[in-house]
Amino acid sequence: MERRILFPQISGIMHGGDYNPEQWLDRPDILEEDIRLMKEAGMTSATLGVFSWTTYEPREGEFHFDWLKEIMDKLYANGIYTVLATPSGARPAWLDEKYPEAMRVDDYGVRYHHGVRHNHCMSAPIYREKVSIIVNKLIDAVGDHPGLLMWHISNEFGGECYCEHCVKRFRNYLAEKFDHDIAKLNKAWWTTFWSHDYNDFSQIEPPYSNGEFSNMGLNLEWKRFTTWSMTDYMKSEIAILKERTPQIPVTTNYMKLFYGLDYRVMSRELDVVSWDSYPAFHNDWESFADTMGENSFDHAVMRSMKKDRPFMLMESAPGLVNWHGCNKMKRPGVHRLASLQAVALGSDTVQYFQWRKGRGSFEQYHGAVLDHLGTGDTRIFREVAQVGADLEKLSDIRGTLVKSKVALLFDWDNMWAIDAMRGMSQETKEYPKTCIQMYKNLIRFGVDVDIIPSDDSLDDYEVVVAPMLYMIRPGVGESLKRFVERGGQLLATYLTGYVDENQLNFLGGFPGDGLTELFGVVSEELDSLYPTDHNQVRFTDGTVGEVREYAEMLRVNGAEVLGTYTEDYYGGMPAVTSKTYGKGRACYVAARLDDAAMQRLLEECLKAAGVTTYELPCGVERHTREADGKQYVFYLNCTDEIQQVKDVKGTNLLNGEQVDGMLALSPYDVAILA
Ligand code: GLA
Ligand code: ZN
Repeated sequence: MERRILFPQISGIMHGGDYNPEQWLDRPDILEEDIRLMKEAGMTSATLGVFSWTTYEPREGEFHFDWLKEIMDKLYANGIYTVLATPSGARPAWLDEKYPEAMRVDDYGVRYHHGVRHNHCMSAPIYREKVSIIVNKLIDAVGDHPGLLMWHISNEFGGECYCEHCVKRFRNYLAEKFDHDIAKLNKAWWTTFWSHDYNDFSQIEPPYSNGEFSNMGLNLEWKRFTTWSMTDYMKSEIAILKERTPQIPVTTNYMKLFYGLDYRVMSRELDVVSWDSYPAFHNDWESFADTMGENSFDHAVMRSMKKDRPFMLMESAPGLVNWHGCNKMKRPGVHRLASLQAVALGSDTVQYFQWRKGRGSFEQYHGAVLDHLGTGDTRIFREVAQVGADLEKLSDIRGTLVKSKVALLFDWDNMWAIDAMRGMSQETKEYPKTCIQMYKNLIRFGVDVDIIPSDDSLDDYEVVVAPMLYMIRPGVGESLKRFVERGGQLLATYLTGYVDENQLNFLGGFPGDGLTELFGVVSEELDSLYPTDHNQVRFTDGTVGEVREYAEMLRVNGAEVLGTYTEDYYGGMPAVTSKTYGKGRACYVAARLDDAAMQRLLEECLKAAGVTTYELPCGVERHTREADGKQYVFYLNCTDEIQQVKDVKGTNLLNGEQVDGMLALSPYDVAILA
């Protein structure tokens, strides 16, 4: 495996953040100070222009880029590279006044008013035309600037538009998808139910909140269309950038498992995946290690979208944010821990929103490297500078990759389908949370886990975990069988294989698409439990697991029973099974189990697959990056207590210490062993 360096111009791991000099053009003293302090904080990049449209083009057709050039020159002269955004994240007032069709229409069919951001009609020709003009002008101005490192397209894409134009595009999209045959669509969407048959594609409306929101197929296809439409828009920007500056890589910034867009589809168009991480550190509903664990999962999702290269942490808050329910400060040391966690999971950058707090408007209290106080002697500044110094030491890690033998299957459309289905308990379905929990239960053993779509190749993996794989996409049944046949360890849970890609149920027994044969079970019923209900699984080894929320009744057909329910009318019936299939094994967990029970099952799968596991103190994460025959092992103490890790060997890149045996980590500390 060879390393893949994203930015050879930068010697360490890139350190940067959103910088908005356009808000300070009347304060040259502050702009001077910015450069001085950026150097002091060890910043190697700045993200410019994220919402600069009105400064570039204050009136239609009147352009000003001199200020930008001057800033980029100064940054470059001081060794700071520019990640340059296209300004399409928010529209000028003149644009909406003259071309109201650029404004989005909501799910009641009402046109938005001008304001806020990220609320364009992605298909409005005039909006695309205006974006194309400003992007071309931007390239004219600075496209060949030596400090230009990367294009950052728009900002945090999201949302959907129900305007007439988008509706027309939706109908065309459906006609294409269903071969212009309305009967095909009716069949796939089971429209005879409630007399919802269509005669023609022209009758189809998107799922308006005061219209047709009851058809599962329609709802799902609207979500897929929204991803398609957003991607189509994004491609229109990328086309300009790639034509005129083919050497400059492009990205756009994602947000966790953002509900409205299947990021995997969008990622095919990008050179690098980047995302914005804002965990609610120190909250009152979970442990700190759990918050870090979810962040770890999110990083793994991003990394797994392009496994052959590092990703970027495009934004994170140096201190606090301003949009959580309770905007709590990161405690001392946490900024460093969270930043290095991103690197541990495969990021080659640590970037912030934002460099300097603005004086007014919506985000005036959002954390920044520089506060309204304006000096470099604050706690936050010092912690950021410390991260800068650490990142500079990690140049050997640049371009190394995380190589995982374990995959967790997660699909966006599976998430949409599970949420949309009328059944179970709306409140406790929690597909993403279940996947995150499964991930945490796996990394407990010091293994890295890729999070991949169910129809991805499984060739690189020895263990595959598929929580709640309700929807089986075409080919997935076959692929899982091949995986187990050649020796893979597969673990699936309740709610596997109920529907196909249109949400039509499989007939003849769940899990469908040939999976009853693979697992040797048929799931006959699914029970939803109230919080006060109680049941357990007793395993053949004598251990017991608690059952929460969901329990399926299985007919076993060729599988070995590893555990049975203890109570209720299904007491004594199988709850966990395992079947040898070819050279591998397929394990079916029919109930939602507590973490300890899940961990025992997962550990067994890892061991059976020959994947090395590690004994770690609770709350310590272990991740590995590697390339060119070198390995870098990260230990992250995600607790506020001292932790000791056994059997550690190597040189800690952060402090130069040799470790051979016990590694002591102070609260929130990190060690990177080469
Ligand atoms: C997002 C946006 C930024 C800013 C931050 C605040 O990530 O991209 O412009 O609003 O949130 O946390
Ligand atoms: Zn629209």
